[in-house]
Amino acid sequence: MGPEVMIVVREFDPNKDLLGVEDVERRCEVGPSGELSLFTDLLGDPICRVRNSPAFLMLVAEMGEEKEIVGMIRGCIKTVTCGKKLSRAAKTNTNNEPTKPVPVYTKIAYILGLRVSPSHRRMGIGLKLVLRMEEWFRENGAEYSYMATENDNQASIKLFTNKCGYSKFRTPAILVNPVFAHRVRVSNRVTVIELSPTDAEVLYRRRFSTTEFFPRDIDSVLNNKLSLGTFLAVPRGTYTAESFPGSDKFLAGPADSWAVLSVWNCKEVFTLEVRGASRVKRILAKTTRIVDRALPWLQLPSVPELFRPFGLHFLYGLGGDGPHAVKLVKALCGYAHNLAKARGCGVVATEVSSREPLRLGIPHWKKLSCAEDMWCIKRLGEDYSDGSVGDWTKSAPSSSIFVDPREF
Ligand SMILES: CC(C)(COP(=O)(O)OP(=O)(O)OC[C@H]1O[C@@H](n2cnc3c(N)ncnc32)[C@H](O)[C@@H]1OP(=O)(O)O)[C@@H](O)C(=O)NCCC(=O)NCCS
Repeated sequence: MGPEVMIVVREFDPNKDLLGVEDVERRCEVGPSGELSLFTDLLGDPICRVRNSPAFLMLVAEMGEEKEIVGMIRGCIKTVTCGKKLSRAAKTNTNNEPTKPVPVYTKIAYILGLRVSPSHRRMGIGLKLVLRMEEWFRENGAEYSYMATENDNQASIKLFTNKCGYSKFRTPAILVNPVFAHRVRVSNRVTVIELSPTDAEVLYRRRFSTTEFFPRDIDSVLNNKLSLGTFLAVPRGTYTAESFPGSDKFLAGPADSWAVLSVWNCKEVFTLEVRGASRVKRILAKTTRIVDRALPWLQLPSVPELFRPFGLHFLYGLGGDGPHAVKLVKALCGYAHNLAKARGCGVVATEVSSREPLRLGIPHWKKLSCAEDMWCIKRLGEDYSDGSVGDWTKSAPSSSIFVDPREF
């Protein structure tokens, strides 16, 4: 690129950049011909994927005199758990009472939706967008920055690790299950109770606030209109919706096993579409659907209609305890499947730590899932509030991770 070509990076303006941004988005999604590719429709709102975070920004890269948009990036900042420590009270505890770890929070920034038009790659535009975004992160006091991408996206991983100082951090799994034409049977030995947002908040804060990436503003997640509810599963005969005493009392003497998850409605934010499937594949998929609809009692796994725009539900805040927790998670996933079916979704997705013990209870199709979603992280500064846990970027992965539905 000659020095005469000027790249200007500026804030996205919804009044004049909509078409330019959608054009880049479309050009980035054309996969190699003959292969399946996944199209995302942001439903006319390019900021939608960061809009629900406490602070967010979208930048565009504009080129030359024509001011053609050739790239964009989104970022958001929030406060999450990066570790745990014993509370002061616990340290001075001389009565040998059980001590309780408390979360250590840090301000973290997240980069997503970085795109450079295929005809303008390897000119330094991607790097320029990342650097400008990081400037905004620093100005707003973020202590870390991270991004996520498929682990085979060499361009993106190289850009972040070689040029921007990020290191590979975590590799959670994205588990995706299709929504079938039949309802899934939920074990009748399980009772599913819908929690109020207040009970859900109490349960999450008491049991999951020391899980890494737990958002301190969990209440705004749970009360967001995209959150469709939090569901608790207990063995039948322990509690019912009527006898549930509230999360505080429940946690004081919980059922021997329990599991919880929340459902987030991504369908209103974006839709997906698989393109490039051969006619044969489409016909096979359609046949399984017709059979499944006609004979639902066979419980055949049918391929849902993925070749036209479909929506998804995201399961977050998945957790539990006790010897039957995996079975209870499975029941909750069945319950969530039926909710997604009733609301016309194509798939249900979730993202969990690669070491999550409860993932055994999450039904998913390998072909639709991503075994290793690569998260890369960078420390933006040294002398920050996480002093007591040290440098988070060097810490070992824990068995669970809290994946914020606002960023999926
Ligand atoms: C990833 C992406 C944004 C990079 O944009 P770009 O403007 O081409 O990147 P830059 O020119 O700034 O590249 C900076 C450095 O990144 C690395 N890099 C970028 N593309 C690369 C590629 N295809 N292969 C290997 N390294 C690559 C190189 O180290 C490069 O420096 P160099 O050109 O001096 O060798 C672009 O490829 C893209 O839009 N991809 C599709 C969407 C996507 O995957 N987004 C990332 C999701 S987080």
